[in-house]
Amino acid sequence: DKPWTVPMLRAAKLDGRKLAMLTCYDAGFARTIDTAGVELVLVGDSLGMVVQGRDSTLPVTVEDIAYHTACVARGLSRALLVADMPFQADASAERAIDAATRFLQAGAGMVKIEGAGHKLGVIRHLVEREIPVCGHLGLTPQSVLRLGGYKVQGRDEDAARRLLADAVAVAEAGAEMLVLECVPTPVAAAISAEIDIPTIGIGAGPQCDGQVLVLHDMLGLSSGHRRPKFVKDFLAEGGSVQGAIQAYADAVRDGSFPDAEHSYA
Ligand code: KIV
Ligand code: NA
Repeated sequence: DKPWTVPMLRAAKLDGRKLAMLTCYDAGFARTIDTAGVELVLVGDSLGMVVQGRDSTLPVTVEDIAYHTACVARGLSRALLVADMPFQADASAERAIDAATRFLQAGAGMVKIEGAGHKLGVIRHLVEREIPVCGHLGLTPQSVLRLGGYKVQGRDEDAARRLLADAVAVAEAGAEMLVLECVPTPVAAAISAEIDIPTIGIGAGPQCDGQVLVLHDMLGLSSGHRRPKFVKDFLAEGGSVQGAIQAYADAVRDGSFPDAEHSYA
């Protein structure tokens, strides 16, 4: 099979093909994830929590993401590698170009940026300079200080409308994919129907065009935090690390994950 490229993302959405994504931080897991046929791999700033043992993603640096991106890239041959913009590395277009260039030179094929608002200009700036961008809306963990915690977003009608408008704006700014985190199922479904780039949900219901989970979470490693509702331990059903990753990829592809138990109504 051919390696995944950015233009294949919109094509997959047109074909109704569900995309599976996992976070990954090292070459060993990258090989296993790639072998299982998972289409997308994210070097998330969640590494601040699951690898570095911190309380939030805020302390993660460009250096950290570049290092882990290089490690993961060596383990992949098919999956498309997405690197997370760490906190404030995308505060200006100039900073974002510098960080994104490092991630692409380390082997990423795309960078992920949280938020809309002033980030729309940053997204446009990167896309115009040949850097593919994935958006991220809903619960954006880099907003934890303003939000006062990790909570479901877009619950009331007004917030849902704003979220939909932001999603349209992110797509219009040139993003090729959009992560939706902790969003009620009907809101994520409406966004997915409205935009022509794939939505990748985490706690956003089964009607997104793909799904993502943090690797440690889906292997049952809670790293001392309470397990969110949308997390499923696939190791319990898969029997081995390889089996768990395969079970996750299969469940995303056939639409059986997430079910109502792992979504917000
Ligand atoms: O950092 C991360 O792992 C993420 C995913 C949860 C989408 O941003
Ligand atoms: Na992240």
